[in-house]
Amino acid sequence: MAKKIIIDTDPGQDDAVAILLALSSPELEILGITTVAGNVPLSLTTKNALIVTELAERQDIGVFAGCEAPLFRPLVTAEYVHGATGLDGPELKEPISKKRSKHAVDFIIETLRENEPKSITLCPLGPLTNIASAFQRAPDIIERVKQIVLMGGAYFEVGNITPTAEFNIFVDPEAASLIFKSNVDLVTIPLDVTHKALTTPARIEKFYQMNTKCGKFVAEMTAFFERFDKEKYGTDGAPLHDPCVIAYLLEPDIFSGKKINVEIETHSQLTLGMTVADWWGVTEKKANALFIGDVNSDKFFDLLTKRIASLP
Ligand code: RIB
Ligand code: CA
Repeated sequence: MAKKIIIDTDPGQDDAVAILLALSSPELEILGITTVAGNVPLSLTTKNALIVTELAERQDIGVFAGCEAPLFRPLVTAEYVHGATGLDGPELKEPISKKRSKHAVDFIIETLRENEPKSITLCPLGPLTNIASAFQRAPDIIERVKQIVLMGGAYFEVGNITPTAEFNIFVDPEAASLIFKSNVDLVTIPLDVTHKALTTPARIEKFYQMNTKCGKFVAEMTAFFERFDKEKYGTDGAPLHDPCVIAYLLEPDIFSGKKINVEIETHSQLTLGMTVADWWGVTEKKANALFIGDVNSDKFFDLLTKRIASLP
């Protein structure tokens, strides 16, 4: 039986690769894609999600636009990483398909209420505003969620938008705090692990060699996306953050981590958005998240390459 998921996303090149990986995986039943403001404003993240589903010829998957700003703070975006469109790299065509009229938060609430309890996994790949808004508006859905597997946070790898905070958590720390306190079965895929899933020229070349439109699109996106992080970290490639969430659903055994207490800093200006991860168990606080620390990156890219090659 396919695993029912909702992908909540702010495309973003790495989000786009994650969506394509999910679309190429029959183990997953994508009930819908909900978009949130993050890497770029909502109008662009929504347009980009439509571009990606159209590219994969999967316009049957509904795209639902969500929150255009964090719960209590002004939006912070990342065009300096993703480009003005959010999907810089490949040539982008105006999508023909349209977003669904229903708001993403309503879609999340209604879908959780309409499906069997504990049958849906939420896969947030951006700021957690949509999910937190749904939990605030309809607390009854919280216990109906099977699991949340999110890309966000950092501990040993430290922050990427500030010295202590990862972008998705930093943009909406109050939303993240609500999720981490929700008691939902939570898997966190932080920079500690995504920084081990690096695109390299050889890995990008494999996407070009597919001679498919999706392979070319992935190659051109990652070639653009990696320039910023290669410069910043001096590495031979850039971390492919969001596809790690989908890969975890498909092959959890290539990842490893620890169930620990993780809390979110929401007050300090200096460390706002930090995931304070009690990796060494120095407090008595309840473990509330499986915090992933490692991945077999060769197996990750083997999976990603095989699946993307199966797309048009
Ligand atoms: O910090 C990396 C995360 O922020 C990724 O999800 C990327 O797409 C951006 O949203
Ligand atoms: Ca993202």
